[in-house]
Amino acid sequence: MKKLLTGTLAAILLATISVLVACSESPPGPSPSQQEPEPQAPVSRQAGAAIQRVAFGSCAYQFEDQPILDAVIAADPDVFLYLGDAIYGDWDGEQVVEVTPESLRAKWQELAGQPAFQRLEENVPILATWDNHDYGKHDGGAEFELKEASKEIFLDFFGEPADSARRRRAGIYDARVYGPADRRVQIILLDTRSFKGPSVLAERPEGAGGSLGKYAPNDDPVVTLLGEEQWRWLEERLREPAEVRLIASSTQIVADEKGMDEWGNYPPERRRLFDLIAATGASGVVLLSGNVHFSEISATDEGPYRVVDFTSSGLTHVNEEYPKAPNRYRVAGPYVDLSFGLVEIQWHAEGGAAVTLAAIDLEGERAFEHQIGLETLQRQPEGSSP
Ligand SMILES: [Fe+2]
Repeated sequence: MKKLLTGTLAAILLATISVLVACSESPPGPSPSQQEPEPQAPVSRQAGAAIQRVAFGSCAYQFEDQPILDAVIAADPDVFLYLGDAIYGDWDGEQVVEVTPESLRAKWQELAGQPAFQRLEENVPILATWDNHDYGKHDGGAEFELKEASKEIFLDFFGEPADSARRRRAGIYDARVYGPADRRVQIILLDTRSFKGPSVLAERPEGAGGSLGKYAPNDDPVVTLLGEEQWRWLEERLREPAEVRLIASSTQIVADEKGMDEWGNYPPERRRLFDLIAATGASGVVLLSGNVHFSEISATDEGPYRVVDFTSSGLTHVNEEYPKAPNRYRVAGPYVDLSFGLVEIQWHAEGGAAVTLAAIDLEGERAFEHQIGLETLQRQPEGSSP
């Protein structure tokens, strides 16, 4: 008996030592996103109910009236997404201005004082990510020296809880899943600023200015847009179950010919996104974007199925020149007037669930719309046409 006990103790001791050795040899523990479960839609009107309407928009001067937000409220969305440039921290409408934490806070307060924004906040849950101007640096990236201060100001403004995972990791990317098990809508907000590597300026004729044609593709595979940690986090999110996935990026993903601030400036990263959608088997993906001061829909076959990028930009101002740039992927638009984007999910449509993407103008009218059968947003069997 004593011998048996001694043997057992020795076995336990050996097992303990081998576990300790294994632990010391294994790579550092799980990533922050694995340690902390992602929040599951704390922002919603009816917890657990299927959502049907997601509105989004970008590019709003905080020093101007924002009547388009009343059109947003009238559309009665389940949630509104700010996709960037909710304020212009480094731009006064005519020229670049100096940015300090104090000036950024003051500009967010200016937005908070806009009556239409106050009505939006009272009536519609809001989620947000940033683009360059609310980040605080024109076309800025990882090098921006105020990015930590700007992040704190941004998350404070949008009421991010003090103990959230988003506060503890670098950047402001975030994800939520809404709805019951057979009608889940996942909303993924990417951060295209905090980790963005250097862009390459295009060779332009002397004196050429403006944003069109400003950048050339940076093919260096080492240069990142999202950063490795965010890519790892995104892969985890895409492996979670959901029927519809809205992946929101401040800048355009599919359209890549404008030479503006866009994913096309980082071809390996753009390719990586489509490859990741394929590798994770993530179905139901619709991309949302902003930045260009007009609205359009682009579609590409570079993914495992036809992937659509719905761009909505111009909450308070638009640009007549940008839509003149080529876009061989365009399937709807351009619309060059104040508008917001509306994603409607018809869960019980005749012929199967569908997603309708619509640009909505100041009067609440549809400037354009584009419908996609949900069953087409997954890898199609060989030989079939979606
Ligand atoms: Fe903008």
